[in-house]
Parts: sequence; structure tokens; C-alpha cells
Amino acid sequence: MCGIIAYIGKQKAVPILLEGLKQLEYRGYDSAGISVIQNEKIITLKAVGKVVELQNKIGAQDFLGKIGIAHTRWATHGKPSDRNSHPHGDCESNIFLVHNGIIENYQDLKKILQKKKHKFVSETDSEVLAHLIEEFNKKPASTRGDASSTRGGLDFKKSVLEALKLVRGTYGLAIINKNEPDKIIIARNGSPLILGIGKDEFIVASDASAIVRHTDKVIYLDDGEMAQISADGFEISNIKNKIVSKEISKLNWTLEESKKGGFPHFMLKEIFEQPEVIANGLRGRVEHFLSEDNFPILGGLRPIEKKLRRIKKIIIVACGTSYYSGLVGEYMLEEYAGIPTEVEYASEFRYRKPILDSSTAVVAISQSGETADTLAAIREAKNKGALTLGIVNVVGSTIARETDAGTHTLSGPEIGVASTKAFTTQLVVLVLWTLMLGRQRDMSSVMSKRIAQELKNMPKLIEGILKKSKEIKKIAKKYSYAKDFLYLGRKYNFPIALEGALKIKEISYVHAEGYATGEMKHGPIALIEENFPSIFICPKDSVYEKNISGMQEIKARGGKIIAIATTGDKEIARIADDVIYIPKTLEMLTPFISVIPLQLFAYYFGVAKGYDVDKPRNLAKSVTVE
Ligand code: F6R
Repeated sequence: MCGIIAYIGKQKAVPILLEGLKQLEYRGYDSAGISVIQNEKIITLKAVGKVVELQNKIGAQDFLGKIGIAHTRWATHGKPSDRNSHPHGDCESNIFLVHNGIIENYQDLKKILQKKKHKFVSETDSEVLAHLIEEFNKKPASTRGDASSTRGGLDFKKSVLEALKLVRGTYGLAIINKNEPDKIIIARNGSPLILGIGKDEFIVASDASAIVRHTDKVIYLDDGEMAQISADGFEISNIKNKIVSKEISKLNWTLEESKKGGFPHFMLKEIFEQPEVIANGLRGRVEHFLSEDNFPILGGLRPIEKKLRRIKKIIIVACGTSYYSGLVGEYMLEEYAGIPTEVEYASEFRYRKPILDSSTAVVAISQSGETADTLAAIREAKNKGALTLGIVNVVGSTIARETDAGTHTLSGPEIGVASTKAFTTQLVVLVLWTLMLGRQRDMSSVMSKRIAQELKNMPKLIEGILKKSKEIKKIAKKYSYAKDFLYLGRKYNFPIALEGALKIKEISYVHAEGYATGEMKHGPIALIEENFPSIFICPKDSVYEKNISGMQEIKARGGKIIAIATTGDKEIARIADDVIYIPKTLEMLTPFISVIPLQLFAYYFGVAKGYDVDKPRNLAKSVTVE
């Protein structure tokens, strides 16, 4: 995810900014850039790749400027390149800014600004902001009119305020202006920003890790707030330009802790990030399905819209957790889009003789976009003339580049080796694809709206489950004696049983198997003895009764049962030894919420055993070998 750092004070800005960028590296990024005000000019340098590339570009140049902004970019709009890296400037190179977040209406704003002769150099949404501020700031004043017309000649802060009024989306921003060279303006809406208060200096960052070594005094900006900062002081106001008084907090995290946002492990941080990243994945996308748009299409699939209408079969290729999200996708795509779908281990795909033609779409699902098996499967499919599509997290990764089209999952970097937020954001894209492909076929707009509306609720529902983490931790401790687990579920929750078993296997090194509940009696039931624990994913859905029968069979043999059940289900509490309740939602969306307790259960189980859950033995985050 992108990172912001800004400095104003009595020291040279560039070394402090570079050091700050290095602290932000752990978040993952694909390019970096820096702007510093010096001798009445703004000097900007950018480099694709690591911060060290930027450092090499700077080389022996000694910049004396004491005000600057810098950024690590994780590409969302436009591929990683110098052009698309931040800071972004206006036409006259007066205003430069760094931006985290997504400007949803950037296309509309860009069109308006282009009509006013603004010249854009990047493909990013962020650059629009620099031009918009310029439009209000430039002199002489031009016409005054409605919000979208130019007003011109406003001071720096007011120009930012006016520009932000026109923006729809999220931002954390740090902005400098050559014509008011003694200040930085920062603003926040939905993307974190922290103001660090040092001695005669201020450091702004999107993440405490870039601040801790300078000061422990910080102010957390809230949404809708902005600050004007000079070397002597700062003033915080809200978007209506009303001064806001804020409490100064004390940072009591070490550098390592701050990178984890105060969580003991990246895995836990990433589990808790899910409401936010799911909301990111929906923003600007789900609206299509809620509007009167007849046959909505997602941006990345627009160029192949016609081909998608002709698709008669889908084959999903993926590995591990991504494979399990594909299995959930299979249920959705067949039930709601009416397209025959198969899911295949990418590692097996090219060793079969898959029957492919131009009416088959082969979809690669991959967090990293670099998994060798998945890449090989996609290349094989391409050679055979199939349309290849990607559901990938890392923008600019090989799979993202080599597939014909696709949709990014926008979950930000996943650092914990065990995949959590990547999984649920893959599900987001699979639901959106189901809606889109469904609408191209038989799905009614009433149905698509119903699903889209409920999909929008997922962040809130997940937040509710995360609040039960203490209860789940207790249950995980209770079963810490177990050396084996069975995970059972049916239909949409069969893949979740597989994913739950994989999670605990990976980070706790206990044996666990995921099974479709109906299959249990065909073999695994032989494992059941006194106290053998089975985890049943058993929401009140169309297969509820069948799950209950499976549960009774285990109970009769002395096994222990942990049930993931729908809030209010009293019957299950009579059979199961422990119940974790999840809220009611549409059956096809239950995987979003049933997987959360399983992620937490695996996490707490692994931690209780004393293992390094972020770096389980023998595993790599990105498997780039066959
Ligand atoms: C499990 C896990 C792995 C990955 C698999 C595919 O927690 O992380 O099973 O899901 O290696 O990786 P990507 O999605 O990067 O292709």
C-alpha cells in the first residue's frame, strides 16, 4: 500500500524523507519519489523499484531544502513507472502532492480540467488533484461560477479546500506550493495521516513507523480534517475551514510494533484490515450494480466486454488459498451467472490435456501475481487460444501483465505468509464478476441489486465478528491439546472448510483436513474418537439440515464439535460443544463471514503454541518455482 512522508523544519529534508521512505518499505510498493522546495523551485525525483533506486538517482547531490514530501507507490491506476509515481505536479510545476487513496470521480474531473487546457502526464487519479488545486490557486482569477468552474487566485489553503469539495473518494494528502514555500498542507479522508511533533520540526506520515525515530508526540488526523504546517507551528481545521483543537497523543510503539499497527503480528493486523480492504475493493465498483446502469462492466474488463458475452465456459486456475476462493467462485458463477465453471489446481492444469477454445475463459487467481504454477497455466491457456483473465492483487506483477484483462483485488500488501485479506478481497472480485457476467446473461437487475446491496454490508458484518476475537481466542486455547482437526462444510462453505484446515495446518503445524460434510461418512469418520475435534461451518442455509445430521454422527462417536452458526440458532448450541455465531446474510456471501472465525482460530491456536505465525516454517510468501 502507498506510503506518505513529509518534513518541514530546520534540517535538510531529503535525508529525513529517504529514511522515512525506507521505514515504509515493508508496506510493499513499486516506485518511490520525492519533492523538495529549494531556491524558490520544487525539485522532484522519482524512480521505479526500491527506495535505493531513488537514492541512486539523487547520488551525491546535496539538497539544502528544508521542506519536502515523499511517497512510496503501490500501483492502482496506471502501471509502475516514473510518470505514474508520486509526487504529482500541476501544469506550471508550482504545486506538488503525494496521495494515498482513490479518487473515484477522477475521470470526470480530468475531463473538466482538460477542457480548461490542463495537461496531464500520468494515468493516475492523484494527478487530477494537483491540477484541481492549481485551478483554484492560479492567478489572475478567472470566472466564478458553480463548483466545477474555475474561481482562481485563492490562497494555497483555500485552493486545497475548494478542490477537496469536488472530490469523491478517499485521500491522505501532503501538498507543497512553490509560491507559498514555507508550508505543507495535509488532509485526510479515509486514508490515515499522522502529524509528528518534533522540536522545531514536523514529520507527517501515513504510518507511525516513519515517525517513531523522530518523536513520540503525534496527532492523528480524523476524516474531514486538514492541517497547515510551517516550521513554527501548525493549525488543524476541518473541511469547512473551522479550526479544530486536537489532543496530542504519545506513541509508545517500537519501530517494529508500529509497522504492525500495534498488532503483535502482521497476520492479525491483516485479519483486522479486512473490513477496510473489502470496502476499498468495492468502492467505485459496486455502485454500477446498484445504479440503473443496464449491463455494468468493471473497468479492467471493458476492452473485452464483447468477448465476455460469448464465453461459454470458465476454468479457474490457482493455488492454495487462491484456489479455495476459486472454488467459492465456481458456486457463484454457476448459480448466478449460469456459466459452467471448473476450478483446477494450476500445478496440474498443464499436465492434463485441457480442452480449450476461444469460448473458454481461463481465470488466474493470485495474490502475488507471480506464482510459477499459475503463470505456467495461464501461458498454456493462451497458447491454446483461450481468453485469459486475472484476479490479482499485485499491480504490475507478471500474471497481471500477461493476462488479457482482469480486476485487481486492491487488498494492499499482504506480509503475513498465511493469506487472509487476499482471500476475502478475491471473493469481492468474484462476486462482482458474477454480477457482471450474470447481468450479461439471465440475471435480473433486481437480483443483482439485492446481491450488491448485501455485498456492501460485508465490512460491517466482519467488524462485528472481529469483536469476538477474545471469545475465539479462548476456544482456540481450549482445544490446544488437539493434534488433528476435521473442518466440515457444504456448498458455499465447503471451500471454507478447506481454507480453515489449510490455515491451521500452515501456522500451527497440526494435521487438519477439510471435507465436504457429506463425504465424511465415506472415510474420515473412521478418525473420530473421544475428544477428536471437528469444526463445522453450519450457517442457516439451504444445506443446514444436512450439516446437522453430520454433526450428530460425530457427536454419537464422542467427537467434540465447534460450530460456526447463525446468530440466534439455539438448536446448534444443544449439539455443539462450542459455538461461534456469525450474522445472517445471503447464502452466497456467507464465506466472507464464516472464514473470519477460522482465520482467528488458526491465528490464536498457532500463537498459543508459540510459533512464528507470520513466517511459518518451510513456506514462502510468493512461490516462484514449480
Ligand atoms: C496460504 C497461502 C498460499 C497461497 C498460494 C498461492 O495461506 O498463502 O496457499 O495462497 O501459494 O499464492 P498466490 O495467491 O500468490 O498465487
